[in-house]
Amino acid sequence: MAQTALKHPGTSHLEEAQQALRARTRRSQQMASDRAEVINGAMAASGIAPPPIFVAKNQGAMFEDLDGNTYLDTCMGFGVHILGHRPPSVESALRDQLTKGWHYSLRGEDQLAFANMILTASPANERVVLANTGTEATLYAIRAARALSGRTKIALFDISYHGAHDTALIWPGPGSTAEQLAPMTLGHGIPDCVVSDVLLLPYRSPRALEQIAEHAHELAAVLVEPVQGSWPEAEVGEFLQALRSLCDDLGLILIFDEVLTGFRLDFGGAQKRYGVEADLTTYGKIAGGGLPIGVVAGRANLMAAFSDFTGPHGIFFGGTFSGNPMSVAAGLAALQTLRADPEIYRRIGRLADRVRDEFNTFCVGQGYPPRIKSCGSMWQVFFRDEPLGGFDYAGKEAEGAFYLHCLNMGVFIHATHRCFFSAAHTEADADRVIAVFKAALELVREDGLL
Ligand SMILES: Cc1ncc(COP(=O)(O)O)c(C=O)c1O
Repeated sequence: MAQTALKHPGTSHLEEAQQALRARTRRSQQMASDRAEVINGAMAASGIAPPPIFVAKNQGAMFEDLDGNTYLDTCMGFGVHILGHRPPSVESALRDQLTKGWHYSLRGEDQLAFANMILTASPANERVVLANTGTEATLYAIRAARALSGRTKIALFDISYHGAHDTALIWPGPGSTAEQLAPMTLGHGIPDCVVSDVLLLPYRSPRALEQIAEHAHELAAVLVEPVQGSWPEAEVGEFLQALRSLCDDLGLILIFDEVLTGFRLDFGGAQKRYGVEADLTTYGKIAGGGLPIGVVAGRANLMAAFSDFTGPHGIFFGGTFSGNPMSVAAGLAALQTLRADPEIYRRIGRLADRVRDEFNTFCVGQGYPPRIKSCGSMWQVFFRDEPLGGFDYAGKEAEGAFYLHCLNMGVFIHATHRCFFSAAHTEADADRVIAVFKAALELVREDGLL
């Protein structure tokens, strides 16, 4: 583990950590400036800035950067790599498919095996369509709900993430409270009519249920991320059950976006964990075994919308790469591995519970504000106690310093701050995370930032 250097008089721990990181990541720094000439986009910039780091290779729960430094990965491909990086079952399925080729305009036999596997995730999954990303999956599910209902407004919840298409990018703006949400778009370029076609609701609030009832006549669907990736908490069952029965009473389509929670909280996702079935469900991430995929599954009568766009409620659905053989081969191998070994879920959930409990106990004992929230193997350290309130909050400076110290001590937390354990993480990795987090917080405190 790389250690933070001793503090020199006149410099802060933060400055020392920044200098230490810069000194050991010279090739990454060069790559950052070379790429800045050619590639735009924050996500493409990779890692936490400053200093950005770039990956050379990865294996299990670890990756190596361009300068040969190794890190414990807690991002795991934004939750994709639940079996760790390069799991043998997926790698061998991919090698096998490589020898057969990757044809796009015609289908092979694996899509059927894959679709049958998706059916086993929930009794509500009676039919399946394949796309390329979670973004596409939620876009198609929304389009299908609009076509089927003949209405346009979509109810969705504050601080949910449903991908990068227009309807998904309506977010609570500054000054929003659970009583009064002020919708805004994430970034420009999204027409006002998209904002007015969204009913933004307070997640887990009885007020949301009242608003759904008030607007039922104009709603095409209620779209919910059952456990919010931005604020992962396990105590959501009652709310999801209330949503289900309200949608049943009002005849509304309930869409579960399980792109993140599907095959993560359980093989059957949030639906299995909380005993609630959706009408339409979107999957992605883990379902592709590490390669891009998007899936919409659901009740046969609703999924009929995908059959023929010239039909009465049919939608256009396409995609050159939809159902591509490499993703399907990788996804099938990953899902077979997960299905055969449900103990994985219990084990990685326990790792997250332990990190959360030990870290939170430490913080309470020391009087430090941060807390870990988690649901199963999804977890995150928070330096604020309120999900709303925008992107600026009191603990932001301490948070930035904390993550930088973690990186300097060899534990990588992506700039989204979302963390995931995988089957490749061990008890020793959890111990290391706890030790690094405690040490990082002490450095932040000594700098007077906590
Ligand atoms: C719940 C949820 N829905 C949709 C998406 C979008 O998926 P993708 O990034 O594959 O487009 C994400 C991605 O993080 C997600 O977490």
